Amino acid sequence: MLIKVKDLSKIYKTNSSVNKYIKVLNGISFDLEYSTVLGIIGESGSGKTTFAKILSGLEDYDKGFLEIDGKNISLFDKKEFSNTVQMIFQNPYASFNPKLTVGYSLSEAFDKNIKNKEDLIKAKLLLVGLENDILNKYPHQFSGGQRQRLAIARALLKNPKILIADEPFASLDVQSQNVIMDIFKKIKQEKKTNLVFITHDIASAFEISDKILILQNGNLVKYDTINNIREYKTNDYVNELISSNYLME
Ligand SMILES: Nc1ncnc2c1ncn2[C@@H]1O[C@H](COP(=O)(O)OP(=O)(O)OP(=O)(O)O)[C@@H](O)[C@H]1O
Ligand SMILES: [Mg+2]
Repeated sequence: MLIKVKDLSKIYKTNSSVNKYIKVLNGISFDLEYSTVLGIIGESGSGKTTFAKILSGLEDYDKGFLEIDGKNISLFDKKEFSNTVQMIFQNPYASFNPKLTVGYSLSEAFDKNIKNKEDLIKAKLLLVGLENDILNKYPHQFSGGQRQRLAIARALLKNPKILIADEPFASLDVQSQNVIMDIFKKIKQEKKTNLVFITHDIASAFEISDKILILQNGNLVKYDTINNIREYKTNDYVNELISSNYLME
């Protein structure tokens, strides 16, 4: 299995004196096979980003266990996390240091002793449809969509097993969204890096994913293949979430 999650729970402390703790993830269990794009959908506050952060080592969990490629993530150090899971975020404007050229930022993704950095960078830029001559430019010289492409290129430089995209379209116009979706489709085809795609947008989740996981208030309410989810209407919440969608032919 690429990802094995068993009984995963996460509790956050709040500032409220009434409810001091909130359970953000509540006993999540599922297995994800290799080469299977996972779409995670669910309302705002359902725990999607929290799960992504746990999977990428940015956040601890309170209970349960999580394995990536057969190894318990509690054994991962920072470096192993960054070589295994990369995450790109909603806001591409915050993802690059404004004072550094993007070439410098991209080359920082590598360990010092790696050779052929330039060739590796070139290959990833090609994948995201950017020219090599952008390397001397600074982040402010790029559009939001271009920055998101740069963020994807940088994430892929480590050839991670998993690339998590958390609402990658949120701050982009439709045209840029389409460009990024095409890049995700290429990544899916290459089968080197497995995508985990988190979104509010059910149509785009169905477009790219093989399996869909639906979260509601920290609970896993549905985890199945796209086809099964389309075919079997099992649960009122699932129906409500996806019935208004044009993809439910
Ligand atoms: N650092 C934190 N401290 C306390 N509570 C938090 C923290 N981060 C998230 N939460 C709470 O955990 C819950 C889940 O948040 P999360 O960001 O995982 O939701 P989400 O599904 O990604 O939502 P959205 O679609 O709005 O991005 C929310 O109730 C949120 O307020
Ligand atoms: Mg979120």
